[in-house]
Amino acid sequence: MSAALIDGKQIAATIRVEVANGVRELTEQGITPGLATVLIGDDPGSHSYVGMKKKACGELGINSFAEEHSADMSEEELLSLVDRLNGDPAVHGILVQLPLPGHIDEQKVLLAIDPAKDVDGFHPDNVGRLMVGQPRFTPCTPAGILELLHRSGNPPGGREVVVVGRSNIVGKPVAMLLVQKNDKANATVTVAHSRTQDLPDIVRRADIVIAAIGSPRFIKADWLKPGAVVIDVGSNRVEDSTRERGWRMVGDVDFEAALEVASAITPVPGGVGPMTITMLMVNTLQAARTIHGIG
Ligand code: GUN
Repeated sequence: MSAALIDGKQIAATIRVEVANGVRELTEQGITPGLATVLIGDDPGSHSYVGMKKKACGELGINSFAEEHSADMSEEELLSLVDRLNGDPAVHGILVQLPLPGHIDEQKVLLAIDPAKDVDGFHPDNVGRLMVGQPRFTPCTPAGILELLHRSGNPPGGREVVVVGRSNIVGKPVAMLLVQKNDKANATVTVAHSRTQDLPDIVRRADIVIAAIGSPRFIKADWLKPGAVVIDVGSNRVEDSTRERGWRMVGDVDFEAALEVASAITPVPGGVGPMTITMLMVNTLQAARTIHGIG
């Protein structure tokens, strides 16, 4: 068997056309959606993600306001920056790139963001709304994963899903989204993690595996049920002397071997990554509409 590739770039491109049309409609009414990105420090991965987010804004007609500060910015200064962005009428969405430097309390900063501008969906108000089935903003990577499953013809309803990873950004919210009682979800969900016993046996139960542990090629092909659908959220740099830059990206799944067992799989790069950024654009458009009482 050779698995079908779930093409995140192509699915993202389709959704981006929908977003660009929505942005144009708003702009014609004198409202240009605006996203503020806040980047602290000089982590190359974070710089690269934020760069892609700014580029996507430019392509879709969304204003982007880039705040870049050194790693020694104090928590107080960051909180006052968030406060200013909360009050700025040109800013409809605020994204504080995580992780933050160790001296800053991440939860305190997320709590300071106006929930109506929290396009990441990380504010406890928005996390709670997701849990009770009344989402305001769905976190971007989980939302992108649901789109990938539906638009590739692999709806999760009634299927056994194993999520490997329990982060606040991916594992926990995607599990919460999938277990909801609605046509987009209705899955039976298990959340496994670093302390799970007999992980291979648990993964083997899954019709759909969502790998979000951040460890290169951790999930092996012989852990997969034949015909499983694999969504690989991992984005790990590994050394590769055949590349000029000396590294390449791999996911959390042993991709080449998994191709022979799975029925469908997302590549890395080109699977989940483009969807995360696209869903951020969806959420920013939605924030602008809601703030202005449109739609
Ligand atoms: N760091 C890794 N993923 C994300 C994300 O989706 N949003 C933010 N703000 N930071 C991240």
